[in-house]
Amino acid sequence: MKKMYFLLMVALSSLFLLTPIHAAEPVKVGMILPYSGVYAGLGKEITRAFELGLEVFGDEVNGRKIVLVQEDTEGKPNSGLSKTKKLIFSDKVDVLVGPVSSGVLAAMRDTVHNSKTPFVIANAGHDGISGAKCSPWIVRTSFSNRQVVRPMGKWMYDNGYRKVYLMAPDYAAGHQMMDHFKAGFKEAGGTIIGEEYPPLQGTKDFGPYLAKVKEAKPDALFVFFAGGPAIQFVKSFGAFGLGNTIPLAGAGWLTSPLYIKAQGEGANNIIGSANYIPSIDNAANKAYQDAFKAKHKREGSEFAVQGYDSARVIVEALKAVNGDTSDKKAFMDAIRAVTFDGPRGKMRFDSKNGNIIQNIYVYKNSKTNGVIAPSVFDVIKDVQDPSDSCTM
Ligand code: BEZ
Repeated sequence: MKKMYFLLMVALSSLFLLTPIHAAEPVKVGMILPYSGVYAGLGKEITRAFELGLEVFGDEVNGRKIVLVQEDTEGKPNSGLSKTKKLIFSDKVDVLVGPVSSGVLAAMRDTVHNSKTPFVIANAGHDGISGAKCSPWIVRTSFSNRQVVRPMGKWMYDNGYRKVYLMAPDYAAGHQMMDHFKAGFKEAGGTIIGEEYPPLQGTKDFGPYLAKVKEAKPDALFVFFAGGPAIQFVKSFGAFGLGNTIPLAGAGWLTSPLYIKAQGEGANNIIGSANYIPSIDNAANKAYQDAFKAKHKREGSEFAVQGYDSARVIVEALKAVNGDTSDKKAFMDAIRAVTFDGPRGKMRFDSKNGNIIQNIYVYKNSKTNGVIAPSVFDVIKDVQDPSDSCTM
């Protein structure tokens, strides 16, 4: 009996020794996104496209299944930070994906950096992350705020606008976007004649802000709003009767394909700049839109493309390290080195700061056959985030 027990133990331990340590353990991806609050729609869109990306590019590498652990930031910095700590220290995720808000990103950054956790930013554009707060543990598949907005100031001046009013939510992204617009517009010779910063959470009525804009009679109103506030703002702008008197321009998320239908007529004629337009003409974008439409019965948005590309970045990096995430630096180096032909063209990270290099599209919404969609009239190629203050 003793001998049999001994032989059984020997067999079991040799089996254990022959099995690669990580063979059966899943790769855990911590999805740190808003699933409630004003940016809930954006968090859900990024998640569904990330899941689609895993279906298309593979959800298993070298025997390790890729699984998602989802946490709701509510779009709030405090909540985002505590959920980040849970994902890193309790769930022990291999990589983080998210968040949507620049405010949440700023709150998470030091915890991610100090714990050396690979982090793929799938939306939030906080400029510091590709500047003074850059980190070897962070890449961004989305954009930096200045990357998308800065070209618009000069573009609007060159197209005849001289006096512009600004409006954006009162948090990091709102102020950064307006500051970059201002810099480009003033440098070109334009004047800012007023600025409004309503609270991000809970602004139900844009009326008092729009009344001031009406009174000031600007050549145009330039804004940044996204998600729930973007839907409300565009509707209020129309309802306030400004649609026919003051041209409305903004950072592209103002009329995302995700909610342009909900905005109705108010979305027509709006001018914007964006890092993705559904009509981009390349094979990878067609494949992505076909797959998204087949699954969700509608067009994939810019938020979705960022989730889809983030999934592919992680899958490709996992393949490069044979599914082994135990050497975190090797895994992160593999993430930074990923490149592929994606829906936005050649996907690659800037080696200086980890921010994606991409085209920026300037467009005006117009109505064709009853459908309001962006018509692109300028493409600024291969825009990089100026990484002056990033040292890694
Ligand atoms: C941001 O907070 O960085 C952000 C949120 C929504 C859309 C674009 C940027």
